[in-house]
Amino acid sequence: MMFLVACLEVVTIIITVSSLSRVVVGSTMDPIPGESNLYNTYNGTAAPFPGNETQPILPTTTNSPNPDDLLFRNLLAAEWVIFSFYQQGVEAFTPSNFTDAGFKPTTWSRIAEIRDNEAGHLLIFQNALSSSSIKPGPCKYDFGFGTDVTDYLVLQTVIEETSMAFLTGLILQAKARSSKAALVAIAEVETRHLTWALIDVWGANPFAGPADTAFPYANQILDITNLFIVPGSCPDANPVYPYPRQNLPQVSYVKGKTPLAPGSNVTFTFRDAANVPSFRKDRNYYAVFFHGLVSVSVHYDTATNSSVVPKELDNKGMVLAVIADREGAPTKKSVLAGPLVILLQPPGLF
Ligand SMILES: *[C@@H]1O[C@H](CO)[C@@H](O)[C@H](O)[C@H]1NC(C)=O
Ligand SMILES: *[C@@H]1O[C@H](CO)[C@@H](O)[C@H](O)[C@H]1NC(C)=O
Ligand SMILES: *[C@@H]1O[C@H](CO)[C@@H](O)[C@H](O)[C@H]1NC(C)=O
Ligand SMILES: *[C@@H]1O[C@H](CO)[C@@H](O)[C@H](O)[C@H]1NC(C)=O
Ligand SMILES: *[C@@H]1O[C@H](CO)[C@@H](O)[C@H](O)[C@H]1NC(C)=O
Repeated sequence: MMFLVACLEVVTIIITVSSLSRVVVGSTMDPIPGESNLYNTYNGTAAPFPGNETQPILPTTTNSPNPDDLLFRNLLAAEWVIFSFYQQGVEAFTPSNFTDAGFKPTTWSRIAEIRDNEAGHLLIFQNALSSSSIKPGPCKYDFGFGTDVTDYLVLQTVIEETSMAFLTGLILQAKARSSKAALVAIAEVETRHLTWALIDVWGANPFAGPADTAFPYANQILDITNLFIVPGSCPDANPVYPYPRQNLPQVSYVKGKTPLAPGSNVTFTFRDAANVPSFRKDRNYYAVFFHGLVSVSVHYDTATNSSVVPKELDNKGMVLAVIADREGAPTKKSVLAGPLVILLQPPGLF
């Protein structure tokens, strides 16, 4: 009986997802993600469609919006960041740049294939938006990797982990069941991208314990990607990203001789001196560490802006830390700064 119910659930979700994509695919000329190898094996350096587009797509109707339009607008704007990261990598490096640095001969073509997958995500998110919604266009992005393939590959690992976390968090905002299933399907692909990197690039154990990290305030993670957007470079018509945007102080940490790990002291720094939290003397503050499906709060010392990463966390996968004025950061308003993305894997890389 349980088994039958589970099967029915799966069948319902599959039908819903495929009917979503059938209904929303716009131009019949567009290569369809899932049916076109443009999103798999294209290995040219010119951006694949729709990554070659430069402008937002303006609303064409005043039909009633989809309940998940806001979610997919935020996600499409985030996807432009991610797609552009891979597109820039494909353009900046040749296959031999990776092998010269000691990486495997397949590295460049994997980066190109991930770029193709991300172009498919652009189209999937554009098509998920209703015709009465703007579809944000690309800004200019500066990832700061220069000519160093190792810096590039470190950032690739960070970007994939971070996108797994915001996709998981966005499920809490999704209204339609089909949107939730689509978010999981995309998160799974980002996980494959990360798993490839952990095994093939870093030679690491790819696992992350029993659960990857669920962080409740996805827009706070999306906001971090604003670091890569060249200020003032977005098309005028693009909406504020992410929306709603808390514009929290963004944090980094003082790098020590050893990588951050459970039990180690973490001293937070604020990226923008003009946007820092103000702490009151008569209150307690907390550093809240989200890891797997749990969070652990510890004392945040406002005199030194430091805390100790909770010892009880396992040393695998991803931790997202925020500074909060309430234990457990139970509301998004209780978060005063962050999140800080801490990658415990592979050890020593970050
Ligand atoms: C691109 O794909 C073509 C056709 O499969 C192949 O011959 C070529 O070597 C590939 N180029 C790179 C740089 O991997
Ligand atoms: C992007 O590529 C598509 C398909 O090749 C093409 O129809 C479109 O005109 C291109 N867009 C731009 C802005 O070049
Ligand atoms: C990458 O390789 C190309 C030749 O394939 C070379 O011209 C270029 O200088 C290399 N770039 C770096 C950063 O090593
Ligand atoms: C801690 O952070 C505050 C901003 O909230 C800043 O004014 C202060 O200088 C920082 N303290 C140290 C020791 O860096
Ligand atoms: C963390 O290290 C800094 C610098 O050594 C020190 O000032 C601070 O008190 C430590 N914080 C905690 C919570 O132990």
